[in-house]
Amino acid sequence: MTEKHPHSLFGAVRMGYVLIESEKIDEWRRLLKQGLGMHLAHEDSATLAFRVDEHARRVIVARGPSEDFAAAGLQVDDGQALGVIMGRLRDRGIAVEAGTEEESTLRGVKSFYRFKGPKGMALELYTEPLLADEPLNMLTSAFVTGASGLGHLAITTRLPEKMLRFWQEIFDARLSDRISQPMGGAMLDISFLRLNERHHSIAIAATRGLRIDPIRTKAQHFNLLAATMDDLVNAYGRLRDLGCEMAHEIGQHPNDREVSFYVLTPSGFELELGWDALKVEEAGWKPTAHYNAISLWGHRPQRASLLRGIGTHLGNAVRGAKNALRPEYSPIR
Ligand SMILES: [Fe+2]
Repeated sequence: MTEKHPHSLFGAVRMGYVLIESEKIDEWRRLLKQGLGMHLAHEDSATLAFRVDEHARRVIVARGPSEDFAAAGLQVDDGQALGVIMGRLRDRGIAVEAGTEEESTLRGVKSFYRFKGPKGMALELYTEPLLADEPLNMLTSAFVTGASGLGHLAITTRLPEKMLRFWQEIFDARLSDRISQPMGGAMLDISFLRLNERHHSIAIAATRGLRIDPIRTKAQHFNLLAATMDDLVNAYGRLRDLGCEMAHEIGQHPNDREVSFYVLTPSGFELELGWDALKVEEAGWKPTAHYNAISLWGHRPQRASLLRGIGTHLGNAVRGAKNALRPEYSPIR
């Protein structure tokens, strides 16, 4: 059971949806419908909307030039919890605006509030998702959502301390554990944060020492959790048959024991499909575990050149150096 305290938001917030902006609508349809096997709930010339459960929309692709995440939706239990979040944002001078009716419809929610989160990602808060009656028509048995939410986001940053504090101070996120992985001559430190029973809803990755962030997009990947190993393996096979490139083939993470693969999306960031990720039992969990590799086994790049390997992990040093000069937005000081 997810633990709840009257003054803590822990367990009251979960990942709800992702909104992606891309010109590559046909490629996204192929990836999400034919590859991952999601239910295509709505399609027009400018929009794709997918279901993975009873929620009317979970992954939305809207036509636009950025080839990036346009927003991440966070579902909040009720108005009281939403009020706590709004108060904390207000106390820190973080501006919040209400979404329009048209924007709410696009996202499949009754209404929402938006603010600019770390690294400029629009974070959107809502309490009431629209639900669908129509039976799911998917090429897969199910995705794991519910109290755990949609999945997770992994974000690279040059301001990891601020980003960590943001999630802890605004959402009462708890540190699950950490991984440090040598990569391209640098050390990558990753902190895994949970908002609820899911081992992590947010992963924050930063290079140690000289801070470089070679990832162009607001998140490096987003993750969905498949219900069974068959679902995972069949999705992998379908994606390979469609000619989609695996940024990392099937492997297993040491901390949440999740078996997963990463497919390169048409927008250039990665999408991780996982299976069998552990849920944290709050009693007795201490965030002291520190692993020394991202993977127990596997997760090898399909194109195994050194440049490609680093590129799909964290980009190459040249792009990193360029990014190092660009200021990174943080909503908290
Ligand atoms: Fe992940």
